[in-house]
Order: sequence, then C-alpha cells, then structure tokens
Amino acid sequence: MIEVLVAARREEALDICSYELRRVDGQPLPAFTAGAHIDVHLPDGLVRQYSLCNHPEERHRYLIGVLKDPASRGGSRGLHEQVQPGTRLTISEPRNLFPLSSQARRHLLFAGGIGITPILCMAEHLAQDGADFQLHYCARSLDRAAFVERLRRSAYADRVFLHFDEAPETALQAAQVLAMPDDDLHLYVCGPGGFMQHVLDTAKAQGWQEPCLHREYFAATPVDTGDDGSFAVKLASSGQVFDIPADRSVVQVLESHGIEIPISCEQGVCGTCLTRVLEGVPEHRDMFLTEAEQACNDQFTPCCSRSKTPLLVLDL
Ligand code: FES
Repeated sequence: MIEVLVAARREEALDICSYELRRVDGQPLPAFTAGAHIDVHLPDGLVRQYSLCNHPEERHRYLIGVLKDPASRGGSRGLHEQVQPGTRLTISEPRNLFPLSSQARRHLLFAGGIGITPILCMAEHLAQDGADFQLHYCARSLDRAAFVERLRRSAYADRVFLHFDEAPETALQAAQVLAMPDDDLHLYVCGPGGFMQHVLDTAKAQGWQEPCLHREYFAATPVDTGDDGSFAVKLASSGQVFDIPADRSVVQVLESHGIEIPISCEQGVCGTCLTRVLEGVPEHRDMFLTEAEQACNDQFTPCCSRSKTPLLVLDL
C-alpha cells in the first residue's frame, strides 16, 4: 500500500476528472507499464480500480481519469464529490492485466468514453517506441471526450481518429478498420460493454483470432440472476462444505465463516478473487477471464460466478 496526496484535480470533460497522485513521502512511485491500473481506497471504504493514463516512464506521479457514472455504486461519485487537491488516499502498487503484446508488430487501439485511460498510456508508450499503431477514440460528443487536447497536441496526433455520436460523418467504420487481420496485428479495446462487444464481434467476423484480441472491462454487464439456484462449495484443504444460497455469493458465504478471499471490484472485472477449481463446473459470470480460460473451468471468480454442478471443490 502506498500513501499518496492528490496533487491536482482537473475537469477533463463533462463528468470526467483527472486526479494527479503523488507520494506523501516524496519518493518515486513504483514503475508501471502501459495498460496498468491501481486500486484506490476511497474515503468511504470502497476500493476501486483506475487505469493509469500518464506516460509510463513517469515515476513522480500517477494520473487517473474518473467518470462520474450516474449508475455509480459509490466509487466514482465518492471521488468526484469528496476528493480534492490535498486529500490523502491509499493506493496499491500498479498491476497490469491489460498489457501490450510482445508478439505484436502493429497495434490497433480502440477506446470508448472513459476507456481512453489505459489506451492513452499505450499510445504514449507505442509512440515513444516508434511503433506502428492507430488509436480510434469513440465518445458521445466532444464535450464528453477527455484528453482530446492532449491527443491533438501529441507527436502521434496523425494516428488518432476521433469518432463522435453527435457527428455521424465521423462514425467508426469498424469493419473497414478491422478488415485485414494478421498474426502480428493486435487489437486492444476498453470502454462500455456494448462498444467493446461491437469491436470484438466485428473483429471476429473479419477473421481475427482470439490471441490477437485484448480487452479490459471496467464494469460488469448486468446478469439476470432470477433463475439462480443454490449449490455447495468444498474446501480442498479442510474438507469443509458450505451451501451457497441463490442470493449470496461464494465470497459472502465463506467470509461469514471467517474464510477471507481477497476481493476488490466484487463484480468479476478485476480478477483479485480468482480461485482454482479442482472439481465441478463453474458458471462464469466474470469479464476477467478470456473465453478460452473460462472454457478450461479450472478457475473462477467467487465474487460473482456460480456453479453449473451441485458441488465445486475449491483449492482453498
Ligand atoms: Fe474483482 Fe472478484 S473481486 S473479480
């Protein structure tokens, strides 16, 4: 855990603020790579993940961008309303679950709305490396698009394409942009679920292969829980068995028996709670594992995922 101070807060667009974080003790912050995020412990006790969007070689500060989401469960609203320059926060070291591929020689970056934050960091890194890339940034309107000035003034501005819903002539022609899949061309997408689905579905329809597709979700897509049933989990180490009723998660039930699983997002996005499954078939509800990883059924996210079989044996 690192103690930081909010050194600056800027309005980057309608309902989007950036927060510049510096270490309280003035020391350099841990290094990070493009696509990394940090956990931010908010004043109200919530923990939320935010991508770092400053240049990945900077060590004197971290920059995060936060959308004030009307559907916020407290995290983004808390930041917008309570966190000002001078506020002290606790953050984790950076973690990267959305790295640039070392196999790729060319890169296509797609950002929807606040999904620009990790993508911006990737663009900075790729530009510095002299890599071959394009950045497509989609937003509802110019006033809702953060960091546009930074992109326009960047050395790679000619590789940035802005697409605004309010200007249909700028619409992203995804099928055209994704028309030439190749093993050395990789795609990275971050943004709202519908936007990401559109980009990924279009890529797959154009023949893109899964290893070339990289995504980071920042919110889970709502799941219909109406048909949820109960199941049981068994801890391999002790043999204890716990019933998981329809209205409680595995994490909640185990926690109530004093068995702590580390959690953060509690909605299947961050992967913090990832747990190995030794027997049984999980019903995956996370956005963290790839389709191929989910199909292996050897791990699941107990904060939100459930079970297709009456019993799951967990490596706990
Ligand atoms: Fe984030 Fe479970 S706590 S995936």
